[in-house]
Amino acid sequence: MRNDFEAAMHFRHACKLFDETKAMSQEDLNFILEAGRLSPSSFGMEQWHFFVIRDKAMREEIKKVAWNQAQVTTASELIAIVYKKQVRSSDAYIQSEFDKFHYPDGVRGMYKQFIDPREDAALESWSAKQVYIAAGNMMTAGASIGIDSCPMEGFDKDSVEKIIGLETEKYALALLVPFGYRVNEQPPLHRSELSEIVSYL
Ligand SMILES: Cc1cc2nc3c(=O)[nH]c(=O)nc-3n(C[C@H](O)[C@H](O)[C@H](O)COP(=O)(O)O)c2cc1C
Repeated sequence: MRNDFEAAMHFRHACKLFDETKAMSQEDLNFILEAGRLSPSSFGMEQWHFFVIRDKAMREEIKKVAWNQAQVTTASELIAIVYKKQVRSSDAYIQSEFDKFHYPDGVRGMYKQFIDPREDAALESWSAKQVYIAAGNMMTAGASIGIDSCPMEGFDKDSVEKIIGLETEKYALALLVPFGYRVNEQPPLHRSELSEIVSYL
């Protein structure tokens, strides 16, 4: 198991060009989406939503505002990962999560103290952070079954949100993640040594 995980970590890289002739199965896509669904999130609020963008014309439009990156149109599946914006304890979504999980008053109080005093921008940033955890797990899950991916922030956020018709009072786009099969060999991973990035106290 340890070796399988390590192999997946080495297989994953930011794939720049996908093989347009190879389609992923729905089963494999579900496996990846499930990894997102099962990810941890602060207070268990599951701030994410996943839009699977299959419409070819929509993808062409997105590519134009995404630095013309080939991943957008060549990938077998393109997932827009968005985060929820309405995350104050008084917001309906948070109330429903509290109820769904039968959170006791103590936890609701902690949430109020921790979340509500923050500025809107800080709250958005907090909510966005949660969906990056899901994205990481989804990419590693893909790699574990031989599927390539690329995390992408290289796009004009407002334009992509408009193209996909996102309800921007509720959601904001964090990142696009294409999944599929590589055309080119992956380049060597460039990483610092553990000794450079780990300190024991
Ligand atoms: C949040 C985030 C946004 C990124 N945006 C892009 C992008 O728009 N296009 C791209 O080709 N790579 C993008 N990358 C990939 C990084 O450039 C890549 O992960 C890094 O250079 C390390 O390479 P590796 O993932 O192949 O090991 C992004 C990575 C992250 C984590």
